[in-house]
Amino acid sequence: MSIARKIVIAIDGPAGAGKSTIANHLARHLGYVNLESGAMYRALALKAIEHNVSPEDPAALMSLAATTTITLEPTEAGNRVLLDGRDVSQRIRERDVTDAASRVSQHPPVRAWMVERQRALGLQGGVIMEGRDIGTVVFPNAEVKIFLDADSAVREGRRVTQANAQDDPARAEKLRQDLRERDHRDTTRTAAPLRPAPDAIHIDSSTLNIDQVIARAEQIVAEKLKYLGL
Ligand code: DC
Repeated sequence: MSIARKIVIAIDGPAGAGKSTIANHLARHLGYVNLESGAMYRALALKAIEHNVSPEDPAALMSLAATTTITLEPTEAGNRVLLDGRDVSQRIRERDVTDAASRVSQHPPVRAWMVERQRALGLQGGVIMEGRDIGTVVFPNAEVKIFLDADSAVREGRRVTQANAQDDPARAEKLRQDLRERDHRDTTRTAAPLRPAPDAIHIDSSTLNIDQVIARAEQIVAEKLKYLGL
């Protein structure tokens, strides 16, 4: 009996659309690994913060990158992220790193460095990679491309709930504003801006609950595997 070939699944979309939840679920369901490309930008951004390197300075960021190792270890609950061997999984979710990651990711040389590493992770297949440019740049030949989106008001609301900020209007407004600014930078940058690949299948999660989004994503993958005879 031959072992079924494993494909590459690209999941792109803006912050707060639910990419990680769906990618983690699909990974468990299929026995694939889920790799969070955004965590790599976050890790380099953290290193820049720690070394007083400006996230707006591509040359300095690239010399920092030359001595940087970023490792993603897929776990049931998402990626464990190691920066030069140190576990930074929690730290990279904080606000200063989130903001710096979005700035660091604007520079073409930084993106090229990331893309090279991300492609190496997908060589064997069996990978679900989530991000902003996975279906367009990193894996343009991915067998499945999903573009997961939701209205900005819905995504902002989810972010506020996740952060338990419903009863703190000032904090909630700050979170909404952060998301809007990040969306703006991610979609308007010149290098690989957030765009659906022409052949991506869109899921709008604005009016769907998690189970419905998961069911739709599973259906998309199952149809493709069947089509490929896998
Ligand atoms: O997905 P995330 O929020 O962890 O991503 C952090 C930042 O990195 C986000 O502002 C956009 C950027 N990013 C990117 O430019 N390309 C990717 N493939 C993934 C993330």
